[in-house]
Amino acid sequence: MKRTSYQTTNGTGLDRSSFPMKLWEKAKKYGIWNPNDIDFSKDKADWDKFNDRDKDAFLSTLAQFQAGEEAVTLDLLPLIMVIAQEGRLEEEMFLTSFLWEEAKHVDGFNRFLKEVIGISSEGIEDHIPPSYKTIFYEILPEALGILTTDPSPVNMAIASVTYNMIIEGTMAETGYYVLHKILKENNFMPGMLEFTAKLKQDESRHVAYGLYLLSRLVAENGDEVWEAIQMQMNKLLPLVMSSIEEVNEKYDEHPFGVDPAIFMEYAMGQFQKRMARLEKSRNQSLKEVGDLALSEV
Ligand SMILES: [Fe+2]
Ligand SMILES: [Fe+2]
Repeated sequence: MKRTSYQTTNGTGLDRSSFPMKLWEKAKKYGIWNPNDIDFSKDKADWDKFNDRDKDAFLSTLAQFQAGEEAVTLDLLPLIMVIAQEGRLEEEMFLTSFLWEEAKHVDGFNRFLKEVIGISSEGIEDHIPPSYKTIFYEILPEALGILTTDPSPVNMAIASVTYNMIIEGTMAETGYYVLHKILKENNFMPGMLEFTAKLKQDESRHVAYGLYLLSRLVAENGDEVWEAIQMQMNKLLPLVMSSIEEVNEKYDEHPFGVDPAIFMEYAMGQFQKRMARLEKSRNQSLKEVGDLALSEV
């Protein structure tokens, strides 16, 4: 493929008032932090004091986060490639920060597992529940992988729902919420608490982009895409719920004394919030969708 011109030199320029450029500005401001700068020294002392049940549950949470961050790092590229091929420079610029942030999340969890938990060569995959594996080992790579051969609007929407709305907007946000709650209420692990706050901030931009992308796909393509979005959301919800149940049912007593009903309620609340926003965006202009999303990151 040859090109005849570039927007930055043919007089078009970058659309700095567009949503993706504004999100890019936020990413340059808030996404520049180094996982290596976080002090995990007190976290190690706290870990040593956990009982066996709490250690097991905490390790399960970490294993899910670590595998999940690796998955989203490995699987984002097909989406970025489609955006680049469509010549959406502003969106692609933001997506470079997105991918870099996911890589930093992999990096940070890896450091924590090594330095705090002492995991080196032994695997921790046994700590990942089966439904979580179905989502991250099968559904996510397939939903994104298909874009390399068939980047139709429906497939783009299915990929973004899976990645941005379910994995980031429902599962990751529930995981961070619960982790943050346990650490904060018990005054545990200040390093992980700081790391979680950074992760939450990065993920809020990723989810905002997903919302914008899905709204754009619906605005450009109509009902067929909207139906695909609803179908994929509803298809994945039971798996999200069972991935939470599968961890909780392992224990006779609740790890850290936290009632698992809280996770389920929060996850369901996040799911409903995402669904409501998608529905609302159908009656909004793309600019309104973008402005509202920007006000939240
Ligand atoms: Fe991430
Ligand atoms: Fe993310």
